[in-house]
Amino acid sequence: MRFTNSVVVVTGGSTGIGFSAAEAFVAEGAVRVYITGRTADTLQAAAGRLGNRAVPVVADVGTEAGRRALVSAIEANGDRIDVLFANAGIAESRPFAESDESFFDRTFDINVKGVFFTVQSLLPLLNDGGSVVLNASIVGNKGMPNLSVYNASKAAVRSFARSLANDLKPRRIRVNALSPGATLTPIMQNGLKLDQSGIDAFEAMLAANAPAGRMGQPAEIAAGALFLASPAASYVNGIELSVDGGLAQV
Ligand SMILES: NC(=O)c1ccc[n+]([C@@H]2O[C@H](COP(=O)([O-])OP(=O)(O)OC[C@H]3O[C@@H](n4cnc5c(N)ncnc54)[C@H](OP(=O)(O)O)[C@@H]3O)[C@@H](O)[C@H]2O)c1
Repeated sequence: MRFTNSVVVVTGGSTGIGFSAAEAFVAEGAVRVYITGRTADTLQAAAGRLGNRAVPVVADVGTEAGRRALVSAIEANGDRIDVLFANAGIAESRPFAESDESFFDRTFDINVKGVFFTVQSLLPLLNDGGSVVLNASIVGNKGMPNLSVYNASKAAVRSFARSLANDLKPRRIRVNALSPGATLTPIMQNGLKLDQSGIDAFEAMLAANAPAGRMGQPAEIAAGALFLASPAASYVNGIELSVDGGLAQV
């Protein structure tokens, strides 16, 4: 029960890693967990599963209106935030030569601007001594083909954790990056457009190359986010915690 009475915000909390994190925050005593997403029905279904301590807010982190909607929902409850997990993100692959400006902008608007301005807009509501966890990815340090824009967006997120840790020093707000490895979530189908045979091939690659020999489960990644957000990480700041079964570590 590391988060008893805590108010938590998880952007992109309707599916995958964000949903698992929201579930774990509720299970560990959070009094309110705000979850966001763009798709109202998915978000409502997630909130239904999480119970009455979840507050669903339809909000696109890539737009100012979306970020404002989130701020308003929190203010309407008179809440102040203890933990922000800036998790919302998209992953789309495209050959370099075909990656046009709108493709580039979509990824950067959500993954980079979305993270930066989510933290900035929620800052007045964040408690001093609170914790911010940014969801990056091990790909920020990798150069896989057809993913140059996504990879770069995650390198930027990792960089924000370094700078914001210093920027928020006066308020004792810790900022860390979480870098998941390959994790079985809807992003595999919706974002990367992998069908079952593509996922099977990915699993075979991991079986051959990753020390863990398999994909991660969302709950295993969420556990890393909760550690970074928790008092057990009180002296952990500005880091990148890779939770990847060792894939990018060996
Ligand atoms: N799965 C992996 O292998 C992996 C590895 C490394 C890093 N990550 C990162 O982990 C994070 C979560 O991804 P996931 O794998 O859990 O995928 P997911 O299941 O697709 O979850 C993404 C979540 O973000 C929301 N979202 C997407 N764009 C949004 C926007 N503009 N505004 C608000 N919410 C938005 C989605 O809901 P809507 O679509 O309804 O908006 C959903 O709730 C992402 O940042 C991803 O890059 C994933």
